[in-house]
Amino acid sequence: MAVDLLLGLQWGDEGKGKIVDVLTNNYNIIARFQGGPNAGHTLVFNGKKHVLHTIPSGIFHGDAMNLVGNGVVIDPVIFKGELDKLAEQDVDYKKSLLISRKAHIILPTHRLLDAASEAAKGKAKIGSTLKGIGPTYMDKTGRNGIRVGDLELSDWKQRYRNLANKHESMIAFYDVDIEYDLEELETEFFKAIDVLKSLTFIDSEEYVYQAQKSGKTILAEGAQGSLLDIDFGTYPFVTSSNTTAAGACTGLGVAPNKIGDVFGIFKAYTTRVGSGPFPTELFDEDGETMGRVGHEFGATTGRKRRCGWLDLVALKYACQVNGVTQLNMMKADVLSGFKTLKVCTAYKYKGETIAHLPYNIEAENVEPVYTEIKGWEEDLTTMTDASQFPQGLNDYIDFLEKELEIPITIVSVGPDRKQTIFRK
Ligand code: IMP
Repeated sequence: MAVDLLLGLQWGDEGKGKIVDVLTNNYNIIARFQGGPNAGHTLVFNGKKHVLHTIPSGIFHGDAMNLVGNGVVIDPVIFKGELDKLAEQDVDYKKSLLISRKAHIILPTHRLLDAASEAAKGKAKIGSTLKGIGPTYMDKTGRNGIRVGDLELSDWKQRYRNLANKHESMIAFYDVDIEYDLEELETEFFKAIDVLKSLTFIDSEEYVYQAQKSGKTILAEGAQGSLLDIDFGTYPFVTSSNTTAAGACTGLGVAPNKIGDVFGIFKAYTTRVGSGPFPTELFDEDGETMGRVGHEFGATTGRKRRCGWLDLVALKYACQVNGVTQLNMMKADVLSGFKTLKVCTAYKYKGETIAHLPYNIEAENVEPVYTEIKGWEEDLTTMTDASQFPQGLNDYIDFLEKELEIPITIVSVGPDRKQTIFRK
């Protein structure tokens, strides 16, 4: 069986967790392939909100297996926190959670290095979630990292010490004011490592291969969004992994010709958290309204998200890079009440009007060109079928489908599992 992918097409926070949770009934295995606790996947069901950072969003369905793939970076402390919360919900995660031996581990000093690096950047900071993501991937590509499989080796603590010592000298090199008590951080870390070691570690690429061969259905769950991809995002204001479709191949060991459907998730408008260019960002009442109605605060950091109109230039680019086969539009309900909706269909760039994403989309280079569409007043949150959609929403969907040439198969009208409408 081919592996289906589910990816964010914007700057993250599109609502991937909710859709994975909704789609899990169709899959035997849900697998994360990149990122780590910088992600915050929110699921709402039975009146309760659940936030997952590293654990795949299929964990609440008893029948699905959940795999943390080799491309993921794991902070044992945050991971343990997630497990504790699952235990409180009586989720029997031990039988449904598998961890790749090749996944890398975030050390306490990786987090400190992240903080030191950001502090040293001053105004040019990335706006990182400070979870140690960048430094951990740097150690991975620098061939210095510690992997989950290393925890099974007798000398792993020595390897840990060597790396942590090196990190401490790097922190000192940054020459910024970072206060920390490493002993305290390590006590917490080693406790969490013991919990991690009680879980099942596997050679995940073999597991994924055998699962495919025996006809099991697999959904690869992306984290962050395509515009935060280390290669194709708005560099340097990006995360440190490949968030796009190719990342699922390297982050799970899936061959490119074994990829099936690619679900592209986007919000009906655009948000971004952290620094970096955002051509359609709004600084007016419309932006405030989107943020307020859409509760646009980060699930991981609580930071206020920047809001703006839908950017079709960027969305088309993300669809191309990922080979999206189906689109899922999230938070359509947030746009109820806007008299007119704007969609950016081109950029004015160096005296020309262009319809592709250029190398540099800083505000001084790019001015969005908008198409206006009449909005709708109706509250969508209680709707259960696409036949109930108001004319304005149907026009908006038709316009996007025509521009993107990909069907919008799911429209989400609220955070709950139930507020998900499938279109034919
Ligand atoms: P880092 O991956 O924590 O280093 O953060 C790098 C950039 O990606 C920052 O602008 C973050 O705000 C952003 N970022 C990282 N993870 C997420 C996410 O899951 N959702 C939205 N933005 C994210």
